[in-house]
Amino acid sequence: MRKIIIANWKLNPATLAAAQLLARRIEKVLALISSKRLGRSKKAEMVIAPPFPFLLEVGRILRRSSLGAQDVFWEEKGAYTGAVSPLMLRSLGVRYVIVGHSERRDFAHETDAEINGKIRSALAKGFFVVLCVGEKDRKKENFERFVKQELLLDFQGIPKKYSKKIIIAYEPIWAIGTGKTVRSSDLYEMVMYIRRVLFDIFGKKAAHSIPVLYGGSVNAKNANIFLEVDGVNGLLVGGASLDPEEFLGIVKSVSGV
Ligand code: PGA
Repeated sequence: MRKIIIANWKLNPATLAAAQLLARRIEKVLALISSKRLGRSKKAEMVIAPPFPFLLEVGRILRRSSLGAQDVFWEEKGAYTGAVSPLMLRSLGVRYVIVGHSERRDFAHETDAEINGKIRSALAKGFFVVLCVGEKDRKKENFERFVKQELLLDFQGIPKKYSKKIIIAYEPIWAIGTGKTVRSSDLYEMVMYIRRVLFDIFGKKAAHSIPVLYGGSVNAKNANIFLEVDGVNGLLVGGASLDPEEFLGIVKSVSGV
């Protein structure tokens, strides 16, 4: 299976000019790798997810990577001030949407019912949906049950036929932006567990073929460790995706350069 690397820029950078510069630098990095014939085409799919206002201009720069959005609304149009619909995103060339990121579950108080609506709507419009799941604290909660609950509620009633367009990002909240990372053995167990839950929801084929990514303090030094874990199909990268040098290191590990 091809590896997927998703750069989640979050609320960065501050200006359009800085976003364009970053996108150009990342494209340069990707060009460097593919000139060694090991780039995107066979081994990895790169996705860049800038903030909404930069999507159009960043999308114009991207050649070797696909455009992603960090969120999407469930309705297509109407009286929803500030919301951004799937059709709007599609018209900008967006192919991937991230849904249910723990930061949005937290500061925007997103519920599983809302996330379910977003997934439904985005899948119906043909997007790849990247659903983020992950526990807050391994010691204080039954983290497997927590992740299972998220998957069951977020995918409630989603038809099996859409499973080809679904990607899971396992992002333990305690590992996001903290410099702490999950142990390989724990990651392996969690990925197997997630696949068992996917089996219950979508059946055997989907349980094997849905890509499961890891996210949480990924950088150029540790990317390899996660990519080597059986069943891990890629990475969701926050902070390190804003630094072209770091990003180069991560892309190199996935391309085996
Ligand atoms: P981080 O963020 O790489 O900065 O930890 C990952 C994410 O939140 O997607």
